[in-house]
Amino acid sequence: MTRVALAFSGGLDTTVCVPLLEEEYGYDDVIGVTVDVGQPASEFEEAEETADALGLEHYVVDAKEEFADLCLEGVRANATYQGYPLGTALARPVIAEAILEVAEEQDCTGIAHGCTGKGNDQLRFEAIWRDSDLEVIAPVRELGLTREWEQEYAAEKDLPVEGGSGGDWSIDTNLWSRSVEGDDLEDPNYVPPEDIYAWTQAPTGETQEIEITFEKGYPVAVDGVEYEPVELIEHLNGVAGAYGVGRTDSMEDRMLGLKVRENYEHPAATTLLNAHEALEGLVLTQEEREFKQLIDQKWSKKGYEGLIDAPLVGALEGFIAETQKRVTGTVTIRFEGGQARAVARDSKFAAYSAEHASFDTETVGKIKQEDATGVAKYHGFQRRLANEAIAANAEDVEKPELATDGSGGDASEASGSSSEQGSDVEDEE
Ligand code: ARG
Repeated sequence: MTRVALAFSGGLDTTVCVPLLEEEYGYDDVIGVTVDVGQPASEFEEAEETADALGLEHYVVDAKEEFADLCLEGVRANATYQGYPLGTALARPVIAEAILEVAEEQDCTGIAHGCTGKGNDQLRFEAIWRDSDLEVIAPVRELGLTREWEQEYAAEKDLPVEGGSGGDWSIDTNLWSRSVEGDDLEDPNYVPPEDIYAWTQAPTGETQEIEITFEKGYPVAVDGVEYEPVELIEHLNGVAGAYGVGRTDSMEDRMLGLKVRENYEHPAATTLLNAHEALEGLVLTQEEREFKQLIDQKWSKKGYEGLIDAPLVGALEGFIAETQKRVTGTVTIRFEGGQARAVARDSKFAAYSAEHASFDTETVGKIKQEDATGVAKYHGFQRRLANEAIAANAEDVEKPELATDGSGGDASEASGSSSEQGSDVEDEE
């Protein structure tokens, strides 16, 4: 008897995959696996009900803690991709691993997802699954299915699919973000209606301040109350969401190269990322902050790609861990007008001295104010020399480049400059 494990949500795509895995791929048995990374209860109900109606053996795996831990690694790396804190992206390897575990326990020889051939998730899932010996199957992509075909097929087979709860948008929710895409949102010039949002209220004039405590770059408490990662994120999604914090509307460049319009909500992520960066601003040196931006950017890119287990990420995290040893302290965040802004920060590791920076003191330790005069004289010295040389040889600097073949006829093309400059060259010859 051959078995295949299917990443199952109970939506249209994964529902039609169930009979197709038997009919088209010849499996005797399909099992469905739903992984809990913080979706709303209604999604599990939908999955359960659909699985029941299909007679599908269904497993639910709780991976919230693991996922929350990864999100907080993302905080230490100030992780965003084109403004979005990677909710969907970071969840995929966690989900993929959990499904693979069930597949192996249940003696499956195949593993399948319902992703299309256009998105990022197919790549993120398969990067993990293709490390195993299981047959990786993507029915929607491989059979070239369209939504219309799926709807007809579902009707024909009398499959339990309910027509569009939550509108026609495609929604992906987990602890770290809620993503809304598709339908009328596909027009980048269409202003999203307020009802695409479920986690954030439209900002009002109200404000609130909270204090977040960090230990080694990990957020551990809010207003002095300690939380485990899952609860911390859930708590902040509630508090910050009420002030409209963490809405993103962006044109996202997917891995395959497609540009898509994406809307996200991520109140906790925005709050924690802003607070964390503010604390780094207090404790890290200028050169650490500058270099860490490169590290953070690489971490984020690997996170977006679903390749968080790449050796490069381990190496980046070595640098991150070293810097985070001092990212301990508190940050006060003010929610105001849809923003979560750091308004105060404190740490015993501050690379800062109020006394030295103050306008009121004349010296910085033993350094007197007038000692800066020498530095001021040298500042920008090379550029002064270069600019003088340019001014003295202005005509040479402005002269257009000559054609490399020496013919002069195609000067404009050869130099890649405009035809006007091309004729200058001819004039000179
Ligand atoms: N484009 C985003 C990403 O790749 C999120 C897509 C979420 N999916 C959805 N059906 N809304 O990370």
